[in-house]
Amino acid sequence: MRSGRLVSATAGAAVLALGLAACGGSGDTGDTSDGSTGGEDMAGGDVEVFTWWAAGSEKAGLDALVGVFEEQHPDFTFVNGAVAGGAGSAAKDLLQSRLQAGDPPDTFQAHAGAELQDYIDAAQIEDVSALYDEFGLTDAFPPDLVDRLTTEDGAIYSVPSNIHRANVVWANPTVLEDAGLDPAAEYADLDAWYEALDAVQESGATALSIATTWTQVHLLETVLLSTLGPEAYTGLWDGSTDWEGPEVTAALEHFERLMGYTNGDRDGLDWPDATQQVIDGDAGFNVMGDWAEAAFQEAGSMAPDDYVYFPVPGTDGEFDFLADSFTMPVGAPNPDGTRAWLDTAGSTEGQEAFNKAKGSIPARTDADTSDFSEYQQTAVEAFASDTIVSSLAHGAATPVATLNAISDATSKFTTGASDLATFQSELAAATM
Ligand code: BGC
Repeated sequence: MRSGRLVSATAGAAVLALGLAACGGSGDTGDTSDGSTGGEDMAGGDVEVFTWWAAGSEKAGLDALVGVFEEQHPDFTFVNGAVAGGAGSAAKDLLQSRLQAGDPPDTFQAHAGAELQDYIDAAQIEDVSALYDEFGLTDAFPPDLVDRLTTEDGAIYSVPSNIHRANVVWANPTVLEDAGLDPAAEYADLDAWYEALDAVQESGATALSIATTWTQVHLLETVLLSTLGPEAYTGLWDGSTDWEGPEVTAALEHFERLMGYTNGDRDGLDWPDATQQVIDGDAGFNVMGDWAEAAFQEAGSMAPDDYVYFPVPGTDGEFDFLADSFTMPVGAPNPDGTRAWLDTAGSTEGQEAFNKAKGSIPARTDADTSDFSEYQQTAVEAFASDTIVSSLAHGAATPVATLNAISDATSKFTTGASDLATFQSELAAATM
C-alpha cells in the first residue's frame, strides 16, 4: 500500500532557497556513454572514501557506488573510511580532527549548502570546477544546484551524488488499521494528525518512533516548516524570521506535543532502529528522510508495497532538500584517486546505481530512474514541482557550529533540562 501523496498537486510551485526547477539538462555526459571519463587512469593506489554510510541500507548504497567505481577505475582500490552514526553525528567531528591534523582522507562526504561553506572557509577543500568541465558535469545537474555549489568567484568545491527529501512520514498500515485508522487517510496539518497519533498510542504501539538527538532535530525542522510555511522557515536561516516570535513558539509547542508520542528509549537509538520499529509493527509512524525508503525496500519483512509514506502534515508541496556531495580535500594523499572517485560519483552510471539503492534521487537530470521504486518516482516529480527548502539537520541550511548549538538546545529540551521558553531563546541565540 502506498499513499502516493508525496507529489504536490501544485505543479510549477514557487521555488525557495534553491530556486531549483524541473530541468532536462543537456545530456552532456563527458567522454563515455555512462558519463564517466572511462578507465584511462594513469595512476592507481588506494582511495580512502570517508562517509557515514557504515552499515545497513546506507552501506548497500555505498557498495553500489563502489561497484561502479571498480568497473570504471579498476586501477584504483577503494578503501572504506566510513564512521558509523546517522547524519554524520560521529563522522563530522572525527573528520574535523583529521583535517586539522593534516591527515585528510582522499575524499569525504559533505552536504551541499552551508556545511560545505565551512570546509571552504577553513581552506580544507579544493576547487574542483575544472573537473566539471572535464567530466561534463556543468550541464548534467540542475542549474540552480550548480549555482548553489558555486562560490562568488566561480569555484565549485564538490560533486553531488544525490538528492534526499527530509520531510517524509513513513507508516505501517497494519498498525494503523489495528488502531482503527484508514492507512490511506490524509492529514492536512499537525492538528489533524494528532487524532491518529492518539489512536495508535491507545492501541498500545508507539505512535511516533524516533531516535537520538539528530533525529529529534530532524523532526523539529519539519515541524518548523509545517508550522511556519516555506517562506518563514527559510527566513529562519537568513535572519528575516524572528526566532523569538509567536509563530516559532507555536511550532515548538507542536514539537513538544509530538515528542510526547515518541518512544522512551529514543536517546540510545539511531535512525535505523526508529525506522525498524515501523517496519516491525512496533510503531505507527516515523518522520525520517528518504534514506528510510532504502530500509523499507531492504527489510523484506514487509511486502514492498506494504508501507505508507506522505509529506509531514502541513508540508505537502514542499521539498525539504539536502544533497550528499564528495570533495577533494587539500592535501589528499592520492589526488588521482580522488579525481577517479569524483568521476564515478558524478557519472550517470554511478548516480543510477547509488541512488536506486540509497532511496534518494540522482542529482543528474539525465539519469534513468524508470526502474526506481514508486516512492522514488514521487520524489523525482516532487523535486521538479515542489517548493524547495533547505534542511537544517543535514547541512543545507546552516553551518555546522549553528547546527551543533541547535542540537544541544534540542537535547536539553527533550531530556527535560530546559523549558520551552529557554529552548526558544537558546535556539535564537544559536542562530545569531
Ligand atoms: C545523509 C544521508 C544519510 C542520513 C542518515 C544524512 O545526513 O545526507 O545520506 O543517509 O544522513 O545517516
